[in-house]
Amino acid sequence: MEELSQQELELLKLARQAAQNAYSPYSGYKVGSAVLATDGRVFSGCNVENASYSLTLCAERNAIFSAVAAGCRSFEAIAIYVDSEDVFPPCGACRQVIHEFGETMVVIYANRSSIHKTDISELLPGAFKLDTETK
Ligand code: THU
Repeated sequence: MEELSQQELELLKLARQAAQNAYSPYSGYKVGSAVLATDGRVFSGCNVENASYSLTLCAERNAIFSAVAAGCRSFEAIAIYVDSEDVFPPCGACRQVIHEFGETMVVIYANRSSIHKTDISELLPGAFKLDTETK
């Protein structure tokens, strides 16, 4: 794996902190995410589960939606941390949402003992998109 920059390490640290706030009484997995906007702002999120399981929101989408609500539409990188020995690359739904806001976004995912760095074009080749220019 490529080395992480200082900024990427900081992003991962914020993702790890966000994981502490996970609400995951059903799965037990604590996931945190932090997304770096092109303007330098950082937003974080955690997974939020529900007794009606399918309402669960993943950490990545929580972070990105918070950023969008604050006015950010363009992102450089996203970090995801799971407090587990299991490896958590972003799920398919989160890949599609990441792609929506950054077709070349760097994706860093880590657990207690490993760190992986890739980008969304590798995780979601041939992504679905709509051409908003023609609307
Ligand atoms: N989870 C995430 O937060 N991000 C992912 O990309 C995969 C899964 C959460 C959802 C659920 O709370 C728990 O991990 C187990 O699926």
